[in-house]
Amino acid sequence: MNYLSIQDIDHLPSWVNAAKKLKLAPREHQALGAGKTLCLLFFNNSLRTRLSTQKAAMNLGMEVLVMNFGNEGWALEFGDGTVMDQGSSEHIKEAAQVVAQFCDIVAIRAFAGLTDKQKDEAELVIQGFVKYAGIPVLNMESSVGHPLQALADAITISEQKTKTRPKVVLTWAPHPKALPHAVANSFVKMMQLQDADFVITHPKGYELNPAITKDVPIEYDQEKAFRDADFVYVKNWSSYSDYGKILHQDTNWMVTKKKLGPAKLMHCLPVRRNVVVSDDAIDSNQSLVIEQANNRTYAAQLALKKIIEQL
Ligand code: CP
Repeated sequence: MNYLSIQDIDHLPSWVNAAKKLKLAPREHQALGAGKTLCLLFFNNSLRTRLSTQKAAMNLGMEVLVMNFGNEGWALEFGDGTVMDQGSSEHIKEAAQVVAQFCDIVAIRAFAGLTDKQKDEAELVIQGFVKYAGIPVLNMESSVGHPLQALADAITISEQKTKTRPKVVLTWAPHPKALPHAVANSFVKMMQLQDADFVITHPKGYELNPAITKDVPIEYDQEKAFRDADFVYVKNWSSYSDYGKILHQDTNWMVTKKKLGPAKLMHCLPVRRNVVVSDDAIDSNQSLVIEQANNRTYAAQLALKKIIEQL
């Protein structure tokens, strides 16, 4: 079994309940991972994913290898039959098989480059490991998805909701850098598995991949979208149609405490204060961002547990 996408979750409510059980007794399954090794490969920076996934593996009794592949590994080649006389030093075929000799599960973070949509959507790094490593692969954020974050978000919503069918709003917010769509994509997919009144709001031009959003309502008026919201999930992403571009900054889309009303604030972190969210919003007791980060451990632990059970 791999955990590559939200689609790998067979029944979201059961996964959320199982993760909440792990949270109550995190070290209950220490014997399960004993003698097993998890290898974490980072092609991009991380704080939460790195520490929570490592902690999750330790809770299961696993040993962990970590490598900052992006800075310290050889530049990888992915093409079949490529004459490797340019920048790439090692082919994914050898790299994946070598890594697999040292561990039982490999976890990979490899962000979108945001210059070539087709290449990003092919998820070359993670799919290369799936193809050639021959061991289970865990997605720690690929070019199109961040399913560990979305599972942690589902756990957080389940813990915090006060009604069966809460109103959840995913809002775009400004950011000085062009950011990938992975977090938003996985959040949308996860929300499609929830009983919720779910709305996406963003300025025109920031529509996500329509193959992912499908029939989720889009409201271009943020104030209207926020009406009666129970949860507001804030995230920036670059344009999908004008791929990887920042179309405009729209600073008035920053989420403030006043805009939130009584709604809970969610964000995957890291977040730029007073650009994406105001201090008064993130410092308020409506903010769930620290608990979302905490739940990353139990999301990763559940995914790892399910993988180990099928080894
Ligand atoms: N939310 C998240 O994935 O955080 P990091 O990028 O710090 O791992």
